[in-house]
Amino acid sequence: MLTLRAARPDDLGAIVKLERYCFPPEVAFGRNRWHYLLSHAKGHTLLLHDAKGQLMGYLCLLEHKGWDRLVIQTLAIHWRMRRQGWARRLLEQVIAKGKAQGWGAIRLEVADGNDEALPLYQRLGFKAQQRLPDYYGRDQHAHRLVLRLHEPKKTGAVAIPGYLREL
Ligand SMILES: CC(C)(COP(=O)(O)OP(=O)(O)OC[C@H]1O[C@@H](n2cnc3c(N)ncnc32)[C@H](O)[C@@H]1OP(=O)(O)O)[C@@H](O)C(=O)NCCC(=O)NCCS
Repeated sequence: MLTLRAARPDDLGAIVKLERYCFPPEVAFGRNRWHYLLSHAKGHTLLLHDAKGQLMGYLCLLEHKGWDRLVIQTLAIHWRMRRQGWARRLLEQVIAKGKAQGWGAIRLEVADGNDEALPLYQRLGFKAQQRLPDYYGRDQHAHRLVLRLHEPKKTGAVAIPGYLREL
């Protein structure tokens, strides 16, 4: 059985180590990026540990108030624990919390060839919003996926000038 807790800055080394095993070098976040995410970014990282305290997975989430969106920066599960529903559980938790807190949507980017992650997100209701050519490097295309949690907030009718309506 795994336990879940929020990451702290001193988890940096274990996270970077697992990240290197889970992602190809052109995609993996390095120490500097993770240091920023753990110490300064607006959001949080959830960690899964086994009974011996070894890191078995993580999900990093940022909050973008201006866009009314939560952004999943990264998600990975240790290969020993894969296909047991842990990524789905982490995502379901984030989705439930996002809904309860009134966020409009959850966004993420996924590489086109990622045959493990794409079905995971699709089954949870994420929809492709934008194609991102060369997102992870030359010929490494990706898609931006979005899961809408609430209808966008209505801010009142805005008069659109005639010359813009014709565009
Ligand atoms: C993608 C990843 C996080 C999935 O983690 P996981 O805990 O094994 O996934 P789950 O067990 O929760 O799987 C949930 C669903 O996702 C899909 N899925 C997961 N792994 C799959 C695989 N190898 N092949 C096909 N579908 C897969 C299935 O629909 C699965 O449901 P099912 O088991 O009932 O068929 C894991 O494979 C991983 O860490 N990969 C490397 C890092 C990565 O690519 N992260 C995503 C970045 S966008």
